[in-house]
Amino acid sequence: PAPGWAIEADVVVVGSGVAGLTTALRCAAAGLATVVVTKARLDDGSTRWAQGGIAAALGEGDTPEQHLDDTLVAGAGLCDETAVRALVTEGPDAVRRLIDTGAHFDTTDTGAIALTREGGHHRRRIAHAGGDATGAEISRALVGAVRSAALRTIENALVLDLLTDAEGRTEGVTLHVMGEGQHDGVGAVRAPAVVLATGGMGQVFSATTNPPVSTGDGVALALRAGAEVSDLEFVQFHPTVLFLGADSEGQQPLVSEAVRGEGAHLVDASGTRFMLGTHELAELAPRDIVAKAITRQMHLQGTEHMYLDARHFGAEMWEQRFPTILAACRAHGIDPVTEPIPVAPAAHYASGGVRTDLSGRTTVPGLYACGEVACTGVHGANRLASNSLLEGLVFAERIAADITGSPGAGGAGETPRAGAGRVQEADAVGTATVPLLTAESRTTIQRIMTRGAGVIRSAASLATAAEELEALRTAAAEEDGPKDAVPGVEAWEATNLLLVSRVLVAAAREREETRGCHWREDFPDRDDSAWLRHLVVRVTPDRQ
Ligand code: SIN
Repeated sequence: PAPGWAIEADVVVVGSGVAGLTTALRCAAAGLATVVVTKARLDDGSTRWAQGGIAAALGEGDTPEQHLDDTLVAGAGLCDETAVRALVTEGPDAVRRLIDTGAHFDTTDTGAIALTREGGHHRRRIAHAGGDATGAEISRALVGAVRSAALRTIENALVLDLLTDAEGRTEGVTLHVMGEGQHDGVGAVRAPAVVLATGGMGQVFSATTNPPVSTGDGVALALRAGAEVSDLEFVQFHPTVLFLGADSEGQQPLVSEAVRGEGAHLVDASGTRFMLGTHELAELAPRDIVAKAITRQMHLQGTEHMYLDARHFGAEMWEQRFPTILAACRAHGIDPVTEPIPVAPAAHYASGGVRTDLSGRTTVPGLYACGEVACTGVHGANRLASNSLLEGLVFAERIAADITGSPGAGGAGETPRAGAGRVQEADAVGTATVPLLTAESRTTIQRIMTRGAGVIRSAASLATAAEELEALRTAAAEEDGPKDAVPGVEAWEATNLLLVSRVLVAAAREREETRGCHWREDFPDRDDSAWLRHLVVRVTPDRQ
């Protein structure tokens, strides 16, 4: 739709989690006219829900090199080592700057930052706040800083599409705003730099730890704009999500890895610890290994969940260290102090996204991507626990440095991937044109994706998912098909979900191996001879 109003800026940041707000604060501090647009309220994104914490080599005896090693192992051969090196070496100072911005982390008796462990980390390396409310504290501090700096923000604004000039350079975005008064309806923010920080796409699946706003909007916009997108097949399923019933849909309560980091055990109904003997780190193996082991046990034993047993923590530790999780469990009638917690894997994190270089530049000049929406190369085939808040922080600063005046700012990204093998262009999606869907299509897409492209995939399950998604698209496109889609956030979200689902399924079909969080039961082994490479998708303009 044509914009009915427009405002001008130097940079527009889309999204208001750790990545977006950090970028915006840095750009504004450098004197750039910065506008933050966000789909709901400023603190409604995924950052607020992060529990475990933020990983950085802050502890005595820890080094960025050890953090790098753990990240590369979790990434299963597909990390870009240069990007990981930037993450782990710049991480500790980025966390200190976050503290300067006003975030309070938990400390030890001696005043040092308290550190816990999570899956895949060989050391205590995870800083946390409020026990298990790290993201909420980071969000509080950053939103406070944005308000103090009087940054221009537009809430309740779903970004629709990128605006570009005749040479394909970014000129801003169109957006649909509701209920904000001055700028309601479809409008535009015109700016030569656009930073996508829209978060993930967990809502592609029926059960996810992600909030309702995580509908892949940034990846969908980037695809429509002709930017390269990579690694979408690597969806991380968090191993321990509170099990509320097989038909429970939407955002589900997370039970942080930090609970295992502090010594909780994964057990089956008879109390057997099935991670012993599965991996040298047992319950603290990398996330993909734990999620697979739980799923395997569920299949073997014909059950819908396993249990996390942390009764031995006692009431005091539960109350002090994990108050958020304790409250969530009790709200659902489970008391972790006296009974094991029923848990099952659920969709948690998109390791892939819009492909960027080390300055966050995408392949479209002037378009940047930061945080979960981006694929910087730091996560490879499986993100290491608690590296995501860190990635948001570190790459936000890199992007802001690029926009605020490094030579060549605003060019197209170089998309380095040397350390991770060849790039393979995937003919993953026939067209980016997805007709406007009804809001109700969201549930249909989620069920298709959960059945066909969930934790365990096969050629057959993925083929069915592809057919069902295509049928949904065709039905909506047909002249005499359903025409009851009402333009608005819910319809556009469903449309974005369909586009990213189609690309995800196509990439998952193409990758005929099991690696990281991509699990093909028909190709159960990792195959470095054929698959040490990324699947990159770009929809050419003539197919849009
Ligand atoms: C958790 O607290 O388990 C989540 C950590 C993460 O996803 O990095």
